[in-house]
Amino acid sequence: MNIAILGRQPKLGIAELESQYGSAVSWLSVISALIEVDEPLDITKFGGSLKMGKVTHAFEHSDWKRIGKYISNHYSQAWKNVDHKITLGISVYGVSVSGKEIQRTGLAIKKNLKSSGVSIRLVPNKDVALSTATSHHNKLGLSPNKVELIVIRAGDGRTVLAESTGAQNITAYAARDQERPKRDAFVGMLPPKLAQIMLNMAVDQSKPTGRVLDPFCGTGVLLQEAALLGHDVYGSDLSEKMVDYSIANLEWLAATHHSKAKVDVMLADATKDSWSPPIDAVVCEAYLGQPFSAPPASEKLHSVVTTCDKIITAFFNNLAPQIESGTPLCVAVPSWRDNNGDFTHLPLIKKLSSLGYEQIELKTARSHDLLYYREDQIVARELLILRKI
Ligand SMILES: C[S@@+](CC[C@H](N)C(=O)[O-])C[C@H]1O[C@@H](n2cnc3c(N)ncnc32)[C@H](O)[C@@H]1O
Repeated sequence: MNIAILGRQPKLGIAELESQYGSAVSWLSVISALIEVDEPLDITKFGGSLKMGKVTHAFEHSDWKRIGKYISNHYSQAWKNVDHKITLGISVYGVSVSGKEIQRTGLAIKKNLKSSGVSIRLVPNKDVALSTATSHHNKLGLSPNKVELIVIRAGDGRTVLAESTGAQNITAYAARDQERPKRDAFVGMLPPKLAQIMLNMAVDQSKPTGRVLDPFCGTGVLLQEAALLGHDVYGSDLSEKMVDYSIANLEWLAATHHSKAKVDVMLADATKDSWSPPIDAVVCEAYLGQPFSAPPASEKLHSVVTTCDKIITAFFNNLAPQIESGTPLCVAVPSWRDNNGDFTHLPLIKKLSSLGYEQIELKTARSHDLLYYREDQIVARELLILRKI
């Protein structure tokens, strides 16, 4: 059994996991998920999770005194014969405890093991939970001598203890985002983490790989992430510059990340041109309209919504007869946030079935909760998880 500490928008993180593992996924607390599968999960493949771990124990309560005592007894015993130094971090979520008390538990293990000749390096707890950056930079969870214990209070008052299997590799994400040769802030490049989330919402990691189409490929972030997940990639864009950028970025990826993906990128208008088969999945960030630094006046908003709705409806109409029934899609479309935090959604979302698409409903998150935005953004990305009817 596995746990995941979910990212800044936990509903997106859990929806990504449910898309891969179905009913094995449930909420553990408001920031974490339980994934009832035996094999450990590979955090590098999930953009919506900050840490993952294997459950090793469950407590019927959330009393730190007893939990801390269990941890110090158990690990003092378990590690007394190891022949290497251990780096130990402890992260606690939702249990009432201070960083100092957590540190005391770690120090107790260190003291107990000293007499057995086992040396422990404790990662200091500035806070009750180590930050993703601290866990990542200390390589916690990635080898038997670098351990992070993750303690999570569940929604029902019980507490779960897990051993980390890794934290989000922020260095690798930053490199994939910032080191690629062609970037263009104006097209609003997708963060690689979000591209991974979207791919996982459409494409089953456990099935043989196929060819993923992004008909609004821009600088190619989605194509890059699809290639890294082992798919062949097919991109198109209305802009010649973007086609060139995607090609350059995918060449860079092949050279730096040894991706073996077959790559096709071409110039095409997604509202009227044709793509060649095979198309096993469609994952894209469609036209989002112009960016705003403040909510637009209602007339302006109406005009932007109408333009985006028209272009994206035309795209859906053009694509439907070109893909087979059952083809999975994840399409990011714009949704506009007002000062109260309410959203104006695209009208087409209510008409998806008449366009030839079924919207997939998940158990852990409702479809209208699948919105990605930063606090300063007016234009959010709304993720539509679809199947061609
Ligand atoms: C929001 S951007 C996608 C950015 C991309 N995900 C990335 O990370 O770089 C939308 C892209 O759609 C393209 N576009 C707009 N209208 C289009 C159309 N009718 N057909 C094809 N591409 C279009 C734009 O040139 C732009 O590159």
